[in-house]
Amino acid sequence: MFETLITRKLNITYPIFQAPMAGGPTTPELVAAVSNAGGLGNLGAGYLTPEQLRITINKIRGLTDRPFGVNLFVFEQPEESEETIAKMSDYLNSYRNELGIPHNPSLPKYSESFEDQIQVVLEERVPVFSFTFGLPSHNVIQSLKHRGTFVIGTATTVDEAIQLELSGIDAIVAQGSEAGGHRGTFLKNASDSLIGLIALVPQIVDHVSIPVIASGGIMDGRGLVASLALGATAVQMGTAFLACTESGAYPTYKQKILSANEDATVITCAYSGKSARGISTEFIRDMQLYPGNIPPYPIQHIMTRDIRQAAAIAKDPEFMSLWAGQGLRLANNQSAATIINETIDQARKLVIKSF
Ligand SMILES: Cc1cc2nc3c(=O)[nH]c(=O)nc-3n(C[C@H](O)[C@H](O)[C@H](O)COP(=O)(O)O)c2cc1C
Repeated sequence: MFETLITRKLNITYPIFQAPMAGGPTTPELVAAVSNAGGLGNLGAGYLTPEQLRITINKIRGLTDRPFGVNLFVFEQPEESEETIAKMSDYLNSYRNELGIPHNPSLPKYSESFEDQIQVVLEERVPVFSFTFGLPSHNVIQSLKHRGTFVIGTATTVDEAIQLELSGIDAIVAQGSEAGGHRGTFLKNASDSLIGLIALVPQIVDHVSIPVIASGGIMDGRGLVASLALGATAVQMGTAFLACTESGAYPTYKQKILSANEDATVITCAYSGKSARGISTEFIRDMQLYPGNIPPYPIQHIMTRDIRQAAAIAKDPEFMSLWAGQGLRLANNQSAATIINETIDQARKLVIKSF
């Protein structure tokens, strides 16, 4: 009943993607469980070293023979003055005091190299590759396609979707403003690109000819049916899977997801230097008073890493990044397969009942 252009192209049973979620939630077990249940599991690999990426892809392959995706971040390395970085590092020491960790830790390299990461994706010939924050080079896109990889980019506006289609990719994730995690915006400021999903999907669908995948606030069969009605050929659900059995999110994070409401999230640059939606914390509220510039992504992300990790170990959610979308109240802690099956059952009943 829910066969679409995307299910046929990817050879999957249901038009449900589990969103790639870098930073721990998308374990090989989660990715494989979703793919085994008929959806498309996606590994959020943005923070993995090339070696970790290869090992994780092999783990996924050991757990499923179904298609799955790998997702990376595409962005320019930013410049920032020593002074701005030193000022932020000093400011962050007050949180380090609270958590009892060393002041001004030395900063490792800012991020993994996309060139090295994509080399692994190419060599491993993954079935699906998706990206966010920008646009890879023509060469990268063509090399992926030559190896038979299905390529998906992220758009938050119609203009971004048009640019993505021109780059020759195969499909577009339309990320509504409800979405949890980082904004994929790459043409304008993130704050000027906050379009709700119900407005975004049909406008993108009208302006591109490649398949569109709806993402942001979709938690169940109602969101799936609504998205298909808007012209999407699949949905990508993140928050819906964050607290599930196979998710690698910290237990403290899962508890917050399961107890928070639809009004609990805000969009902030405080943790990473890039706009992202997450549950409001003391850290976010306090950083609003920061009297300087927050260094751009990924510098701020690296600078707050010790604080976020120490907070996770101390089970203190107020200093952790708790990325989540606005559909929070509908999250549950069932298995990934149960979430997929219940989503499809509910969607089926809705369609049979008709409008
Ligand atoms: C914890 C978390 C991490 C995320 N990490 C990524 C990522 O690495 N790559 C990506 O393309 N999108 C990422 N996203 C965004 C998702 O792809 C998707 O747009 C979002 O989850 C949809 O909104 P929802 O959470 O309301 O379902 C992340 C989202 C969350 C909640």
